[in-house]
Amino acid sequence: MEKIKEKNGQIKIAHLSELPLLIGKEVVIAGFEIALFKLANGTVKAIENKCPHKQGPLSQGIVSGDYVFCPLHDRKISLEDGLVQKPDVGCVKTYDVTVIDDNIYIDF
Ligand code: FES
Repeated sequence: MEKIKEKNGQIKIAHLSELPLLIGKEVVIAGFEIALFKLANGTVKAIENKCPHKQGPLSQGIVSGDYVFCPLHDRKISLEDGLVQKPDVGCVKTYDVTVIDDNIYIDF
């Protein structure tokens, strides 16, 4: 991974060109696994890369709208607030994302 750079208190984690549309990308920072997604509308989302059910790698999940479906048991998780959708329960951490000059930064 490219060397981590900080800008205005944020950490650069990827370049927009590394992020295919609707395909998750795993980034590890200081031991934390983060799943990055570029949605159909171009918005970039970042969430913890571990499903709260049994640690499924969410970066490998199917993206639909503002949600990702866990690749292990198909729980539906919001990429906006990290909430697992009913009837299941749970939550993953979300990170604020800023894109500057096609570089992706998160508040970490
Ligand atoms: S590990 Fe994600 S639904 Fe089971």
